[in-house]
Amino acid sequence: MAPVTSLTASVHQRLADALSAALPEAGAADPLLRRSDRADFQANGILALAKKLKGNPRELATQVVSGITAPELIKDIEVSGPGFLNITVTDEAITRNLAARAADGERLGVPYAENRGTTVIDYAQPNVAKEMHVGHLRSAVIGDALRHMLDFTGEKTIGRHHIGDWGTQFGMLIQYLIENPGRLAPADEVDGEQAMSNLNRVYKASRAVFDADEEFKERARKRVVALQSGDKETLDLWQRFVDESKVYFFSVFEKLDMEVRDEEIVGESAYNDMMAETARLLEESGVAVRSEGALVVFFDDIKGKDDKPVPLIVQKADGGFGYAASDLSAIRNRVVDLHSTTLLYVVDVRQSLHFKMVFEAARRMGWLNDEVTAHNMGYGTVLGADGKPFKTREGETVRLEDLLDEAVQRAAEVVREKARDLTEEEIQERAFQVGIGAVKYADLSTSANRDYKFDLDQMVSLNGDTSVYLQYAYARIQSILRKAGEVRPAAHPELALDAAERALGLHLDAFGATVTEAAGEYAPHKLAAYLYQLASLYTSFYDKCPVLKADTPAQVENRLFLCDITARTLHQGMALLGIRTPERL
Ligand code: ARG
Repeated sequence: MAPVTSLTASVHQRLADALSAALPEAGAADPLLRRSDRADFQANGILALAKKLKGNPRELATQVVSGITAPELIKDIEVSGPGFLNITVTDEAITRNLAARAADGERLGVPYAENRGTTVIDYAQPNVAKEMHVGHLRSAVIGDALRHMLDFTGEKTIGRHHIGDWGTQFGMLIQYLIENPGRLAPADEVDGEQAMSNLNRVYKASRAVFDADEEFKERARKRVVALQSGDKETLDLWQRFVDESKVYFFSVFEKLDMEVRDEEIVGESAYNDMMAETARLLEESGVAVRSEGALVVFFDDIKGKDDKPVPLIVQKADGGFGYAASDLSAIRNRVVDLHSTTLLYVVDVRQSLHFKMVFEAARRMGWLNDEVTAHNMGYGTVLGADGKPFKTREGETVRLEDLLDEAVQRAAEVVREKARDLTEEEIQERAFQVGIGAVKYADLSTSANRDYKFDLDQMVSLNGDTSVYLQYAYARIQSILRKAGEVRPAAHPELALDAAERALGLHLDAFGATVTEAAGEYAPHKLAAYLYQLASLYTSFYDKCPVLKADTPAQVENRLFLCDITARTLHQGMALLGIRTPERL
């Protein structure tokens, strides 16, 4: 593996060196280099620096220019305006850098991050015996992408699917099953759809009895106590609900083309044995106090409507532990046993108050500190095309699978229209990759904290910022490479480049910096925006620069080389978002 220094970083380094040579008293000064339309780069930092040190900015800029000798890297550097520098790099430097990236396999010359730790990502956390909804879709899609991105930077990641597998509703469900045996088929005899429809039926039926029959309600309440005290028969039945639900979850994750590992499904119940100790530690340290029989944590800045403080409830007055206690125990486990340095939660923004309180309580306990930090990547609501929270026409929540099936179906129409040489089987396979990619990309290309519109027409559109557009760009390149036959891509650094080739090349060179930034800020949309721009720059290149009919054999090879590295960057970038790039479309 050979990491490649980007041209931005090389130019930045030269400027910084020349700057500190011209102005030793400034120490390590930042020339503030940006990509620019006028030249390749513009440096704005000299102006501010000269002003601060009461010098003449243009003079300082001129001095910096004369201190730079790097003919192989810099073609042109000039002082502009009140003291900016415009910098153009050589064609040769661009091609050489890309050639070094091309020689580095899948990593494309991208170095690992300097500070690497262990991140536990809490994502894709549906609830047992309940249908997954579009909110769970977002957590799964965003979490999966972040995980790929962090892995790529060299971070060690551990997934935690904190499924809702505990709580009083299990008393009702289990009691119903005891009184109506045979309503759940064994988990190994059903597929995901059957599992969910059985669970739904049991859920609805038990709810109906629970609401109508006071005596059943009492038996269900006793069943909760039996569950909590670890009664064998009760636990076995509880396990059946969990197993049955997992069959369903896995079928959805498979539909989402997402790898979920069984050992990383560690739900609320997994922390049961820790709860009492967590409560004791909180109480002994004084972080939690008894209030009206419950054990709670108060916060100065968290108040309800009537200005009354809203506490975090660790233990209810009846002795029961809830959502907060399991999350606090999970933090202890993730910090102490999993040795994580970062805890990342991908959870609906509507739970942000819960996490704010949980994190603050954990900080007071010292479980979170300067070495271990926690973030909730709260994501916004999924809206329908009409801009209102996503519902069916009948006003019911939309079943996640129906949604995914419809996306694949729409994608099949698009693929079929374009496909000339594809068999029906190939069309179905592409439709799956295009449809699921469309759903993921639409989610990932908007900043996660914003609400986003689930609009299938827009998602599978060939024009605009969609995954299909990117997938087509990729497939088109593959078709060019196939057409090239015996002629293989090869870099020719001695060749002069067209403006469109330069623009494409400089953007390709910025892949690593983009991934680093997007992963560091937990911002997949920045990677999506980069890839969209890459496809656009490729399109302009392709419009302006004939590839197979270029002027000379060397130019044909060099342009094929640009095509090839564009395709590889698209492929890798899309893979980091969890999206496939079919070879043919
Ligand atoms: N199961 C929860 C829900 O569906 C999300 C769990 C989020 N993770 C956590 N550690 N609390 O709302």
